[in-house]
Amino acid sequence: MARIFSGIQPTGIAHLGNYLGAIRNWVALQNGNEGIYCLVDLHALTVWVDPEALRAQTRTNAALLIACGIDPARSILFNQSAVHAHARLAWIFNCVARFGWLNRMTQFKDKAGKDREAVSTGLFVYPNLMAADILAYHATEVPVGDDQSQHLELANDIAQKFNHDYGVEFFPTITPRIMKASARIMSLRDGQKKMSKSDPSDQSRINLTDSADVIAQKIRRAKTDPEPLPGSEEGLAQRPEAQNLVGIYAALADQTVAEVLRRHEGKGFGPFKESLTELVESVIRPIAEATQRIEQDAGEIDRILRNGADRAAAIADPIVTEAEKIVGFLQP
Ligand code: TYM
Repeated sequence: MARIFSGIQPTGIAHLGNYLGAIRNWVALQNGNEGIYCLVDLHALTVWVDPEALRAQTRTNAALLIACGIDPARSILFNQSAVHAHARLAWIFNCVARFGWLNRMTQFKDKAGKDREAVSTGLFVYPNLMAADILAYHATEVPVGDDQSQHLELANDIAQKFNHDYGVEFFPTITPRIMKASARIMSLRDGQKKMSKSDPSDQSRINLTDSADVIAQKIRRAKTDPEPLPGSEEGLAQRPEAQNLVGIYAALADQTVAEVLRRHEGKGFGPFKESLTELVESVIRPIAEATQRIEQDAGEIDRILRNGADRAAAIADPIVTEAEKIVGFLQP
């Protein structure tokens, strides 16, 4: 039995990329493992977010995770700020990680863009907090999409440097669990950009709460090329949009790309998009309906998160207290 940790930012609404790249794997890994799943509201604060929107989206995304199959009786589901161990360990890691390491993070470079002087310092040290999230539990397995792998390498560097500097074997090595086939779902508007909550165009993503009409319209408008579907994977090279839609189909149908192409070879995108729409709807409709139902009882969501936070703190507090002892904090 492994201890699994993963997190999602409660900014916006979780989308199909989050589902296929991460959440679906979280649900599967609940079986036979100890799952700890976190709505990372401290991370959400690294860019401006309206306080009421943050509170509301934390509840909605909690409802969504439950609707997707995270079982709060089996797994621990909570919001990050409710467990202070994360911030305590993150401070220690701010002092372990090197400026140069963080300076090489591609996600920081992308998010900061040209105006580095104006972004929050939280955005810069974001990966240190992420390392603290995982290591505060001594979790060893982390199911994520492809975009988080650099951050997980950094977390291992931090753990190693801590162990080395203090002469201990305290933090374990983290293993990323990345589902290759759906590790990087791309935008519906641009096959070179990943599907993202922060994309200004809602047409670029399918949210897990989208209605059937909205899903159909977004897929109809999704960017494609004029060629019909090829019979083999080589035929998708240099066709990022086609590759993305076929990849989404394969992931949702639990088929290989080769199988999908065998069935749809020679079809134009019109009929293929119709089949894809049906498939996406069949997966999202039950999730959207369950989310709506769960969301109606905000009190119950809060109770679930409170209970999750208590269980999370019971694991993380002693570990972080030990780390504080190792670095020499007086514990009077
Ligand atoms: P976030 O909120 O951006 O995304 C949540 C999860 O969804 C995956 N993901 C994708 N997978 C495939 N295709 C996409 N287009 C796509 N977009 C997002 C992400 O890889 C992620 O697994 N820093 C993290 C949250 C975090 C975390 C952690 C994760 C904080 N602490 C500790 C793991 C462990 C983030 O911003 O995820």
